[in-house]
Parts: sequence; C-alpha cells; structure tokens
Amino acid sequence: MNTQRGRFITFEGGEGVGKSTQVRRLAEALRQRGREVVETREPGGAAGAERLREVLIDATAECWDPLCEAMIVSAARRNHLRHTIRPALERGAWVVCDRFADSTTAYQGYGHGLGLDVLETLYDLAAGPFGPDLTLVLTMDPETALARARSRGGVTRFETLDLAFHHRVSLGFLDIAAREPERCVLVDAADDEAVVADRVLAAVEDRIQAWAAEADAVEGRDL
Ligand code: TMP
Repeated sequence: MNTQRGRFITFEGGEGVGKSTQVRRLAEALRQRGREVVETREPGGAAGAERLREVLIDATAECWDPLCEAMIVSAARRNHLRHTIRPALERGAWVVCDRFADSTTAYQGYGHGLGLDVLETLYDLAAGPFGPDLTLVLTMDPETALARARSRGGVTRFETLDLAFHHRVSLGFLDIAAREPERCVLVDAADDEAVVADRVLAAVEDRIQAWAAEADAVEGRDL
C-alpha cells in the first residue's frame, strides 16, 4: 500500500483562461509518469458539491448576494474535501483541481468586495488547516479571456457580470500569487494550449524536485 500522502495541485484564473484544458493535460502528463491522479473541480467534485454548483451557477446574478455565494462555495468545498480530495490524498493519489479557495478570494472578495477576514473564517470552518501544495495561476488579459468564454456559448452567472468585475478578479489572482509566492506560480496563458501545457509541466517538475529535496533533507535529519 502507498503510505505517502499525494499532492494537491490547483489551477486558478478568470473566465476563459483555459483552466479545464490544462487540468486535463497536466493530469494526463502525471499519469504517464506513473501516478494515480484524480481530476476534479470547484464548485463541485462530489455529489453534494455538484448539486450546490447548480444552485450557484444556474441562478440569475441577483439571486445570491456575495455572502450567500461564499457560503454556498464553502459548503460545497467541505463536501468536496470530505468525499473526494482527502480520501484521494490519503491513499497516495495526486489531486488536480480546477479552482479552489483562491477563486472565492478573487470572485467574492476582490470581485464583489466581501471582506477577506470573512472569507478566511469561512475557509477555516470548511477546510481547517489544509491547503494546496501548489497553485498554478493562469494569467491572460481579462477582456480577451472573457470573449473566449462567451464564444463557447451557455453563458453562466459570472460571465454576465461587467468587465470591471473581471478586472478586479484578475487583479485579485495576481495579488494572491504575490502574497504567497511559495505556493503560487503565475503561468502566461495567452498562447496556444500546447505551449501553455509545457509551461505548466515545467513549473510542476520544478516543484516535484523541490519536494524531493525537502524529503531528502527530512530523512537526513532523522538519521
Ligand atoms: P467554471 O468552473 O466554469 O469556471 O465556473 C465556476 C464559476 O464559479 C466561475 O464563474 C467562478 C465561480 N466561483 C466563485 O465565484 N467562487 C468560488 O469559490 C469558485 C470555486 C467558483
């Protein structure tokens, strides 16, 4: 049995930056290296959380105020952690997730103006002392990215909000990455998806080496 805990890798960024494609590509690349990988997303990724995703996303923009939104995604996160993320990590699988808590900070915090202290409290309630090992923040001009998301059709609740909102969200992600440089890596996502996938893989391989070096150092201390 694999007794080593898996790694939790998240993708973040605004609408239309290509996160879902990159999640799929990274998961595939890691599987080719022999790892068990669980691909998942937020809000969603477990039965209850997927129901909450519909509740959030299928509603009109006026239906939920920012605090309700934050509570819905937090409840979904708790369900997702309990039923999908933690069991996978505990059996040694790696989890690659399309959005996680940074999306709450960027959308409900920077985008809608909800206090970051409120969001931290909700996060602690939903997740406790737990977080991603690595976060890839895909960056792209919000106007271009939004046009790309809208051209896919089936416009969702957040895609209907104005460009100023999406600019705030995008700045939010940059701020989060600047505040947590150990965890977050910015990846320029404005190029062809294969080029972006190479950048993502390079960042992940860098991090895998750093984790291996840390593990060696810890083992050395134990001797
Ligand atoms: P997506 O998975 O297609 O990107 O759609 C999810 C939408 O939910 C997206 O517009 C961002 C939004 N969202 C939040 O507002 N807060 C959150 O915490 C999360 C995870 C998503």
